[in-house]
Amino acid sequence: MDTREKLLRDQICDMGRRMYLKDMVAANDGNISAKLGEGSFICTPTGVSKGFMTPEMLCKINGNGELIEDNLQGLRPSSEIKMHFKIYEKRGDISAVVHAHPLHATAHAICHKQLDKQIMPEATIALGIVPIAEYGAPSTTELPDSLLPYLEEYDAVLLANHGAVTYGENVVSAYYKMESLEFYAKLLYLSSNIGTPKELSAEQVTQLLELREKVYKVVGRHPGKKCLKK
Ligand code: 13P
Repeated sequence: MDTREKLLRDQICDMGRRMYLKDMVAANDGNISAKLGEGSFICTPTGVSKGFMTPEMLCKINGNGELIEDNLQGLRPSSEIKMHFKIYEKRGDISAVVHAHPLHATAHAICHKQLDKQIMPEATIALGIVPIAEYGAPSTTELPDSLLPYLEEYDAVLLANHGAVTYGENVVSAYYKMESLEFYAKLLYLSSNIGTPKELSAEQVTQLLELREKVYKVVGRHPGKKCLKK
């Protein structure tokens, strides 16, 4: 195994552990994948807790989701790999995908409420708006198809009555978007319970969008001026 593959396997296990410890997945929920090379990927196995994975448990697969290396433990690739492949197919800039069921974000997805309130600079800079894709049954093609309207413009999408998916140029960046998404959803939930969240003004949001580009130089897609629309 080369250094890059070892690094990817270690990062996937590390991010899986963080997701489990941060209430983003229960039991065996969630999955992670990363592009290894042209037409090859490393993904989490189906039906295992993402909190207790070791590098050799991960699956090495081709673009059809078939194992290209024997997995010593007989584990099979994630049942959601079709959703990951749809994202790689539509977004050439993406090298890793994270799917989870973070508590507060999933509560929003259950209420069919997209995250579109500009309440905190970091949430505006990182995500801006997190749209919600129509319900699709897990493991079917309904789920990847439901993402199609959002893949071009967003790096984080809520999945109705299910959870969320985020993606980025590497495993850590894809995971961080999931963490930012959950933090944003939790802040919105808490502040709505304390009072009425005060939203940033159009001028403040415009300034943040400029800072995102010129100072923070954040890569990835973002809805930009849509954050100003009421
Ligand atoms: P897998 O264990 O097959 O990856 O599925 C977990 C999940 O969260 C399905 O939505």
